[in-house]
Amino acid sequence: MPSFGDFVRTQFLLKIPNPIVSFASKTVIVTGANGGLGKEAAKHIVRLGASTVILGCRSLSKGNAAKHEIETVSGCGPSVLQVWELDIESPKSIQQFVDRANALPRLDVLINNAGIQSQKFSVVYGTERTLAVNVIGTFLLALQLLPKLRETARNYRTTPHMTFVGSAMYDVAKWPDQHGDNIFAWFEDKTHFSAINQYSLSKLLQLYAVIQLSAIIDPSGTPTADSPSPVVINSLDPCFCKTGLPGELPVTMRVALRIFELTARSAEEGARLVVQTAAAGRETHGLYMRAGKVREYDPIARDVEKAVYVWELLCKKLEGLQPGILQNLRETE
Ligand SMILES: NC(=O)c1ccc[n+]([C@@H]2O[C@H](COP(=O)([O-])OP(=O)(O)OC[C@H]3O[C@@H](n4cnc5c(N)ncnc54)[C@H](OP(=O)(O)O)[C@@H]3O)[C@@H](O)[C@H]2O)c1
Repeated sequence: MPSFGDFVRTQFLLKIPNPIVSFASKTVIVTGANGGLGKEAAKHIVRLGASTVILGCRSLSKGNAAKHEIETVSGCGPSVLQVWELDIESPKSIQQFVDRANALPRLDVLINNAGIQSQKFSVVYGTERTLAVNVIGTFLLALQLLPKLRETARNYRTTPHMTFVGSAMYDVAKWPDQHGDNIFAWFEDKTHFSAINQYSLSKLLQLYAVIQLSAIIDPSGTPTADSPSPVVINSLDPCFCKTGLPGELPVTMRVALRIFELTARSAEEGARLVVQTAAAGRETHGLYMRAGKVREYDPIARDVEKAVYVWELLCKKLEGLQPGILQNLRETE
């Protein structure tokens, strides 16, 4: 979590520039794009000239309402935006989404934005739901779309991006003292659930997986123009923004949130940072951006033992859900 001074600077003083980088001719997927940061990011990307922007939404009606709003604001033609059904809690829905994406001529940018901060306990993918959506489902989709990004790099001699919308809250995550040999399975037990910690922990696990994935994809650290298929994998914190993320809160917490929201930036401002990261240079591969700049990882994110442990468990989980998925980590022509 940022220090008080950093929080004041990034919430009130920092001027976040409107992104001006061109997305001309690009095809972009934004998950969780019917509201909050995802919808605003899609709006910017349409303004920046993308030829196709796919809104991955679990509710088609909400997705179509977002499409209509973006078309009205941007004046773009009806063929630019497409709404595709995507429920990150469902392997079948993810598979159908991937099949459609694989039929696209190209995929330049995948913004893994969909996320939750669940206040109530439930189990998905054999773990608590916040971890399931923000980590397992997110990577179940991301790893299946990696080959398409690589193919685009090869065929169009371009540098695709896979960007994860993380959170600065990762560094206040409390790593459970005891979690057996499988932290995901450990959180299947309701007595281990903590609404306050779950979200931060999910973003820490997500970050571990981003770090591991980017290192596997390009062990040299920075994909160069000579890489056969240079995909930039990076993540960011979009600042604290007023969105639908807190979900249904108990009354007392709702009042506290209303007060805290006085410090929030708009979703549109946070989305500028999302778009900036999704167009950032190769030097951001494997790295985390906050307030428009690459930030050093806090010590907890640099814990290699934990990162490897989480990555190995995640890989096992993903292979169980989608046999063969790990082959996507290998470069294939
Ligand atoms: N707002 C902040 O201050 C802040 C700060 C740091 C990081 N973030 C991150 O920013 C990302 C976007 O959040 P937001 O703040 O814009 O919140 P939001 O307004 O609640 O948007 C989240 C989006 O994710 C979608 N989603 C949730 N579960 C899904 C699922 N199972 N399958 C597909 N889509 C699903 C939601 O769809 P529905 O409308 O159908 O629920 C919604 O479109 C999240 O990853 C969040 O952790 C936000």
